[in-house]
Formats: sequence, C-alpha cells, structure tokens
Amino acid sequence: MARRYYQAFSLRELDCLLAAGGRHSADLNLPGALGMSEPVLLQDRVVIVTGAGGGLGRAHALLFAARGAKVVVNDLGGSTHGEGASASAAYRVVQEIRAAGGSAVANHDSVSQGARIVEQALDSYGRVDVVVNNAGILRDKTFHKMDDSDWEQVYQVHVEGAYKVTRAAWPHLREQNWGRVIFTASTSGIYGNFGQANYGMAKLGLYGLTRTLAIEGRKHGILVNAIAPTGGTRMTEGLIPPQVFERLKPELVSPLVVYLGSEQCQGSGELFEVGGGWIGKVRWERSLGVGFDPREGFTPEQVAQQWEHIGDFEGAVHPQDSLQALQQMMANLQKYPL
Ligand SMILES: NC(=O)c1ccc[n+]([C@@H]2O[C@H](COP(=O)([O-])OP(=O)(O)OC[C@H]3O[C@@H](n4cnc5c(N)ncnc54)[C@H](O)[C@@H]3O)[C@@H](O)[C@H]2O)c1
Repeated sequence: MARRYYQAFSLRELDCLLAAGGRHSADLNLPGALGMSEPVLLQDRVVIVTGAGGGLGRAHALLFAARGAKVVVNDLGGSTHGEGASASAAYRVVQEIRAAGGSAVANHDSVSQGARIVEQALDSYGRVDVVVNNAGILRDKTFHKMDDSDWEQVYQVHVEGAYKVTRAAWPHLREQNWGRVIFTASTSGIYGNFGQANYGMAKLGLYGLTRTLAIEGRKHGILVNAIAPTGGTRMTEGLIPPQVFERLKPELVSPLVVYLGSEQCQGSGELFEVGGGWIGKVRWERSLGVGFDPREGFTPEQVAQQWEHIGDFEGAVHPQDSLQALQQMMANLQKYPL
C-alpha cells in the first residue's frame, strides 16, 4: 500500500522556514550561563518507557539508564501502522543498555495490556517510579476517507494504551508518594494537521489527561507533564527532507524527558514542544472577551458586531485552571446584578 505523507513538508517549505528561523534567531533565548547545577540522577528509580524499541523511546530509555535508572523497555515491535509484533525491538535496546553497564528488562506487551507492563516492573525491580507514555502509531487519512478502524486503532494505542499503563502504575505512585508521568502529545494535536484527525484527537486528548492528573497527583507527589516532540524516526522518515531529518536526532528530545522524570523537576501539568536542540513551553491564551448583559440576553447580530473584539488578544489572559478560566465570566455576571 502506498504511504501517504500528509504531514510532509516540501524541501522548499522547510528551506523557507530555516531561512526565516535564521533571520529571527535573535528572537531565540540562548541558554543562560551554566551555573553549578545538581546532576540529574535517577539512581535506582524504576522507569517504564513504552514504545522504547526504537525512535524517541529508545533514546529516552538509553538516557534514563545512563542516569542510573532501572528501565522497563516496552515495545510491541509492530509497524508504524500498528501491524504485526516482534520481541526483538525491545530486546535490542535492553542489550544496548546492559552493554553500557545499565540495568533494563524487555517487555513485549501492547500498551493496551498496561497492567502487564507495570507487573513486569514490579516483578523485576519491586517498584515503579516513572512512566513515559511514548508508544505510538499512525493511520493518516483525510477525515473523508477515514474508517472506524483507523480512528479506533489510533485511539487504542495513544489514548487507551497510555491510560492503561498509567492507571496500573497510579496506585503504586500514590502509595510511595512519589511519581513522574510523561505523556507524548504532538503539534498535530495542538495546531491540527491535514490527514491526522484521529492522531490529533488522541494527542490533544493526552494533554487533557495531563492537566487533570497533574491536579489529582500533586498532593501525592506525582507530577505529570506532556511533550510534543519532533524527531527523525521511522514515523517521520520520508516526511522530512533527509538533511533536516538527520539533524532532528531523537537524542535531542530525551534530556527534557529525563529531566521531567527526575527529582529536580517540580513543574506539573505543563506542555513542551521539543526537538532539534530547542525546547519551548506552551500555554493556553484567551482573549479578555466581550461581556453582554446576561439579564437581557443578546442576539447573533450582536455577536457579529462584536466579532473583532471577541477575538482581540490585547490584554489576553492565561488561565492556569478551570477556576481562573471562569474569572471573566463571573465578572460579567457581577457587572449586571439581578
Ligand atoms: N517523531 C516525531 O517527530 C513525533 C512527533 C510528534 C509525536 N511523536 C510521538 O512520539 C512517540 C514516539 O514516536 P517515534 O517518532 O519514536 O516513532 P516510532 O515508530 O519510532 O516509535 C514508536 C514505537 O511505539 C511502538 N508501539 C506501537 N504500538 C505499540 C503498542 N500498542 N504497544 C507497545 N508499543 C507500541 C512501536 O513498535 C515503536 O517502536 C509517538 O507517540 C509519536 O506519536 C513523534
């Protein structure tokens, strides 16, 4: 079957982006001077990385192990489309970790069997501390051509799979009053992408999960964050021109993931775009909005009249939670008392 690369960028488009990036590089923050910072170590922490047989997951697993963690390298070993299975992918990464003097065990279950993956961590190492939900597949098609199985398969691996693994680990993280969970979102979910309705739905869904688990986990010492990575892997091979692909090394994503999995990280509920040696933080922004008199109601014509103002981001707000998000609405009710 011919592969369709809806996400593909043409070389010309990327050249333009790179040229624009070059012109605007003064807008980038350079890393501040390196002061004395504690080494980020995960000595004896037990880390599950799903989909770690290749690509980004492999790079995460190797770096966690290099920082002293014991790693459960999970991978079903199927194709990018989610077909087939093979034990060798996870096994090879475990061999790499052991050859470098680290500790790892392989797990070949699908993330749909999340409880088994957590069981393996408990059986092998007696605990679980960090869960990196990374496993993923693609079933790119325009919405018009998408069938139920394309929708369902992508949902099953990304959302249901991440749920199953995290749900099984959660009581253990709570009990020990310490845990880190990292979800892998995507710019396709944040911004949308042609041919990725299923994938975009799943990936932004994981950010919704991140936000609520961050709230519920905080008092139990569990911090939950999400990344939207870009890396040259089999998933993006053919989408990105080779000369850029080679520079988007998966290893350039993993330092953020290891930091989010560490003691040093204290942030929770946050979303980062990361790749090519760059990390940025994403947040919601909402206009101040327009308040009509709720006692009178208002008409579609008034909406049309105020359209520009509704979308005016001058003085925009960045609500941190649902309560803060309600501030302007409540202010409007107060402005027009009964
Ligand atoms: N590479 C990118 O630019 C990019 C961009 C945005 C998001 N992502 C996300 O990053 C994650 C890693 O992707 P990648 O680029 O390394 O691709 P990849 O295909 O190299 O890695 C995904 C891994 O997940 C495994 N996997 C798939 N289904 C599984 C299942 N049911 N159970 C266990 N393992 C399973 C695959 O065997 C594979 O090894 C994915 O969630 C992907 O959606 C990647």
